[in-house]
Amino acid sequence: MTAPKALVAGNWKMNGLKSAAAEITKLNDLIDDNGAMCDVLICPSFTLISTLCDLNADHVAIGAQDCHANASGAHTGDISAAMIKDLGCGHIIVGHSERRADHGESNDTVKAKAIAVQKSGLMAIICVGETIEERKAGEALNVVTNQVRASIPGDAVIENTIIAYEPVWAIGSGLTPTAADVEEVHKAVRDVLIERFGVGGSQINILYGGSVKASNAHELMSVPNVNGALVGGASLKADDFYGIISAYDQIG
Ligand code: PGA
Repeated sequence: MTAPKALVAGNWKMNGLKSAAAEITKLNDLIDDNGAMCDVLICPSFTLISTLCDLNADHVAIGAQDCHANASGAHTGDISAAMIKDLGCGHIIVGHSERRADHGESNDTVKAKAIAVQKSGLMAIICVGETIEERKAGEALNVVTNQVRASIPGDAVIENTIIAYEPVWAIGSGLTPTAADVEEVHKAVRDVLIERFGVGGSQINILYGGSVKASNAHELMSVPNVNGALVGGASLKADDFYGIISAYDQIG
């Protein structure tokens, strides 16, 4: 089976006011003028989703960074997958390591959220990744494959599942694993997906995330079983993010 079409996704985290809409317009224009060999997604804060969806930027899909596991109800301050879908989003990130750390989200919580996303008909981007202590202890592969197994819903199908491997120590640090380390983890994740979904598991995008920028994108995105990127800091400015997207011009 051929590799899936790559996805370069931006995670704006808790950044961006209404004025940031100009970056989406600029990004859309850059892609319009120069093309993109991958799909492009931006996941802004909840407050910006509506504004950015209303831009109708035809080359830039808009998604969300999190959702509640329930479809509706008495959950003050929370947002459901159905609400996000209602705005025009197709993707929701679940289990980002900052949510796992800041909000104590376990694999069970992440799985419950992924179920909510997929039940709403949206694509779940399920994040996994080891801490530096786990890597130093030689536990990276175990931790990541366990997270993948424990976070994917029982009813998930290949059409609504994306995995993002983000080593916790690489996020926002400027540090990245070696290409060989990325290859080893992505291969292990692929094996779990094939074990779980059969040969269709080779069609699921496995994104790499953690300090991806224009200068390292080509090397990281060329690694076998890396089918795109989840990008934090370097997704905030259209020019920086387009630099990562255009790495796919050479990869195809
Ligand atoms: P970073 O963040 O690109 O700023 O390292 C990646 C992420 O957390 O998704």
